[in-house]
Amino acid sequence: MRVAMIGTGYVGLVSGACFADFGHEVVCIDKDAGKIGRLEDGIMPIYEPGLDLLVANNVKAGRLKFATDAAAAVAAADAVFIAVGTPSRRGDGHADLSYVYAVAEEIATLVDGFTVVVTKSTVPVGTGDEIEAIIKKIRPAADVAVVSNPEFLREGAAINDFKRPDRVVVGIEDERARAVMSELYRPLNLNETPILFTGRRTSELIKYAANAFLAMKITFINEMADLCEAVGADVQQVARGIGLDGRIGSKFLHAGPGYGGSCFPKDTLALVRTAADAGSPVRLIETTVQVNDARKKAMADKIVRAMGGSVEGKTIGVLGLTFKPNTDDMRDAPSLEIIPALIAQGAKVRAFDPEGHEARHLLPQIELTEGPYEACAGADGLVILTEWDQFRALDLGRVKELMNGSALIDLRNIYRPAELQGRGFRYTSVGR
Ligand code: UDX
Repeated sequence: MRVAMIGTGYVGLVSGACFADFGHEVVCIDKDAGKIGRLEDGIMPIYEPGLDLLVANNVKAGRLKFATDAAAAVAAADAVFIAVGTPSRRGDGHADLSYVYAVAEEIATLVDGFTVVVTKSTVPVGTGDEIEAIIKKIRPAADVAVVSNPEFLREGAAINDFKRPDRVVVGIEDERARAVMSELYRPLNLNETPILFTGRRTSELIKYAANAFLAMKITFINEMADLCEAVGADVQQVARGIGLDGRIGSKFLHAGPGYGGSCFPKDTLALVRTAADAGSPVRLIETTVQVNDARKKAMADKIVRAMGGSVEGKTIGVLGLTFKPNTDDMRDAPSLEIIPALIAQGAKVRAFDPEGHEARHLLPQIELTEGPYEACAGADGLVILTEWDQFRALDLGRVKELMNGSALIDLRNIYRPAELQGRGFRYTSVGR
């Protein structure tokens, strides 16, 4: 199959490289000439484990190409994927579809012969209808089938998630699209991955429902963590105790400082707006959004309490700034709420993150260090904000020696309270 992938952001680039690796001929297209030039030189715009090698191998094999102009690739394509951003619109929280619709307008004039147009971007229910209407309006004779095919890729594990998914969801209204989509995902079909064909609106909603459910699950365990602290229970045992029930499941029950990232905050908010507009409010998700927002703010207070009630004039070392490990993404990271709140209360912050380069711009008030131990030096308190593997086995004797104080605040529960006993720390974690 010939694929034109429009947008070389996170989703487009990973999906394009993986489709090429499946054996398809893929052209990844982006208006940003600098980005395309760098990709041609093998320089990735994002940090994602394994992506550089996957891209290099498929470029070498001639299956993966890059272009700034969509015309040739779209005309030749069996399937054109729209994988551009759908950020939260300022002011109302609705998904901003201007990039998606601009692509629909552009490809309307370029498609040649029967072409499947696929939305990979996360788009609200009804967007497929709108894309179809835009294309038909500009070029009534265009022979297209507009399909919804949401992605469920986790940053840091995206290649594996693409190649070994729990399921693939495909929303179609035109039966001709079924064969094209089945062929595209053929290697997965052979691996017995369920490929679920639904109506287009249903598929669009599945994506939001999945993310909202996961966000709710995390928020549930976070509230249980607070309750555990209040009544003297252990949230990790609660999570295990409920998670072993197959109806609940053990994943996404890890308590922490609140979810962040490029999907959950944006998608939960967009679902709330869509549901309100449809006159069918999703109150559980409205509450999830509120509880998660409040939690990030509450984490700064938790740190202040753990440091004796004031951080005025104190130095705080922070380990981890990205919203989760194995990514350089800082979108909606808890660090962006917590650290400014600490600084506003008079603290000085020294932080280390293996990939959090963007902190230079996003948190200009902090000092970035070269390694984890440098962040501990002279600190009155040390906060673990992101569970990068390299923080899981720190030389705690060295940490203690370097620090000025003894408060260790582990917001990801990567250490066990028992391990810390007798080492001179005042250890605080989440829900234990
Ligand atoms: C998520 C979805 O998992 C993915 O299917 C979707 O396509 C995009 O959004 P991602 O944002 O990359 O992926 O990361 P994920 O691993 O899901 O974590 C999201 C947030 O939840 C992070 O802030 C993480 O720290 C937090 N989280 C996750 C928890 O606090 N506890 C958990 O148990 C799991």
